[in-house]
Amino acid sequence: MEPFYSVAARRILPATLICISVALTACNSSNSSEPATGTDPDPDLSVSTPAPAADDEPILEDALFNTASGFVVTREPGPRLVVAEEAADLTDADFDLGLPAAVVQVPDGLDTSVNQAPFFANLQNQDVLAGEILEIVYRPEDPDGGLPGMFPEKLPQGGSFVDNFDGSKTFRWQPLQADVGINRFTVTAVDAENGQYRVSQPLLIRVSLPADLTSIPNVAPELDTIEPHYVRVNDPVVIELKGIDLNGSIPSIEAVDLPVGATLTQDPRFEEIYVLKFVPVETGLASVDVIVRDSVDSSLTTEETVSVSVLSADDFEHTGQPLRELAANRNIQIGFAALQSFYHRPDGAIYAHVAAREYDIVTPENSLKMDYINPEPGRYQFAATDNLVAFARQNDMTVHGHPLIWYRQVPDWVLNAEAGSRELHMTDFITRIMSRYQNDISIWDVVNEPMDDNGELRDSVWLESMGESYIATALQSARDVSPQATLLINEFDISMAGPKFDGLMSLVDRLQAQSVPLDGIGFQMHLFSSYDQFDALRQNFAAVADKGLDIYITELDVSLDGDDSLEDQASAYRQIMEICLQQPNCKAVQTWGLTDQYSFRTIYDPLLFDRSYQAKPAYFAVQETLQ
Ligand code: G3I
Repeated sequence: MEPFYSVAARRILPATLICISVALTACNSSNSSEPATGTDPDPDLSVSTPAPAADDEPILEDALFNTASGFVVTREPGPRLVVAEEAADLTDADFDLGLPAAVVQVPDGLDTSVNQAPFFANLQNQDVLAGEILEIVYRPEDPDGGLPGMFPEKLPQGGSFVDNFDGSKTFRWQPLQADVGINRFTVTAVDAENGQYRVSQPLLIRVSLPADLTSIPNVAPELDTIEPHYVRVNDPVVIELKGIDLNGSIPSIEAVDLPVGATLTQDPRFEEIYVLKFVPVETGLASVDVIVRDSVDSSLTTEETVSVSVLSADDFEHTGQPLRELAANRNIQIGFAALQSFYHRPDGAIYAHVAAREYDIVTPENSLKMDYINPEPGRYQFAATDNLVAFARQNDMTVHGHPLIWYRQVPDWVLNAEAGSRELHMTDFITRIMSRYQNDISIWDVVNEPMDDNGELRDSVWLESMGESYIATALQSARDVSPQATLLINEFDISMAGPKFDGLMSLVDRLQAQSVPLDGIGFQMHLFSSYDQFDALRQNFAAVADKGLDIYITELDVSLDGDDSLEDQASAYRQIMEICLQQPNCKAVQTWGLTDQYSFRTIYDPLLFDRSYQAKPAYFAVQETLQ
């Protein structure tokens, strides 16, 4: 769990937690040990932003907070900087527009002139004060008769949606200080005749503070949900416990009976996070009881049990040689994308063990993305990438950098900068990031996902401001920093025939005609188990090789489709591995993640290891193929 909440940038504002300060809540300031420093609140973006400086440098993290062994873990020197959410917050202007439009899902083949969609009559946006109880009766109607069903999309904390057994349901919610602002609540009505015919109706609830703050009840704080985890006996376990108080204050957390040698320590940067660290010495369920205590009324508490499943060391081993040894014999590399800060997860130690045993190339899944690593002009967050680089060095792994230039995860400051200045910010970014990792990262996804499905260049802030030349400029800047690095264009949905792959090949032709440095193409390959375009994949690999380029399978995962089995999934992995091995220019295969536990497509179990780090049939298929 990467703690994530709004914190002002160190160079711009004092480092304080943002919370709602009301009479009932003690809104504490951050206990960050570092003093805030000032900087220009209105930087001139027509010139270069400041390069990384000494106060961006990560500092050592106390071992109490991580599971790492054998490599040094650092942390950011100050509070985490804001990473822009992709969806903007709702505003009063949105609220004033009235009830948002409903979204209708019409199943294929349904004739809407015969069967009309259900709807909600008489709903409107709601204004409510924190502490008041809001009740809304939902009664869907169907113009064709019949009684539609309904379900809420996601209930807010403390909310309920209760059946009145007369075709209606009542949404009941008492918002508190933490809910102040505009909240969206959606209920979906389901057609009585066709369960796939649905209408989702959002409604906005504006929660404001009352004049009399004492009218807001103080509720007991809770512990944020902790997902189940499997760990290895005698490994260190860290569990980040996060207290939540809907009144907006920060609860404290204490242990009822801490096991011998265990520690429970407040995180130095995040006041509501307490890190429990212990080493389970026997298999079974390891549990610790904790109390979450309200910071205003210390008699208000919630008791919770925190547990992990402890397996024996043997449970994590399997037959056959590790993939990296087999791959080395076949002259390719095999790897994965590393979960950011895996050493802060309960199962971080077994994660590191399996990764080091099996893989010799690793990509940071998220920590190099521009809005994370350079979220504000002249401010940088390097610790997560530095730590992965240290882990890779410890385990003799190549690091594959991802991504330098992408249309997504662009920080607000770049999006808001004048179009004419973006080339400067792009080349500054490439130069600074590649220079920092010059000796550690030898392969780079310089341009990520430049193509649209139709084979044209994808619209982006980069394309808008520089036209197609942004791609050549980015590649040339990367080459200027590093004559040796392998420079890639990385793309998805190019493992089949079609305009997207053709468009990419035309782009490569244009780049090569201008002698732009480019060493290879990254094939992402986020697939489903029904994937069967193996001939096209072989041909696309050959087309890339014919242009003198290398092929990297950069983000492979095979999501389970419908009723497909783990064997179907294994079969897809096997065939892809075979195609790579048959193509001399195919240099590496990397899965997008290590275990299904942390896959970005976790619900489809797409990877080689399951949630308890057991090798799946797909693992053995890859192993056999490499043999
Ligand atoms: O870091 C915060 C975390 O603190 C917070 O708890 C959480 C709550 O939602 O959000 C976290 O950030 C998320 C981050 O993943 C880490 O989990 C971002 O919201 C989320 O947008 C981000 O998603 C990543 C996505 O790229 C967008 O950058 C996925 O993990 C990552 O797997 C995915 O990877 C991309 C490749 O870079 C490019 N190719 C496609 C691939 C899959 O989309």
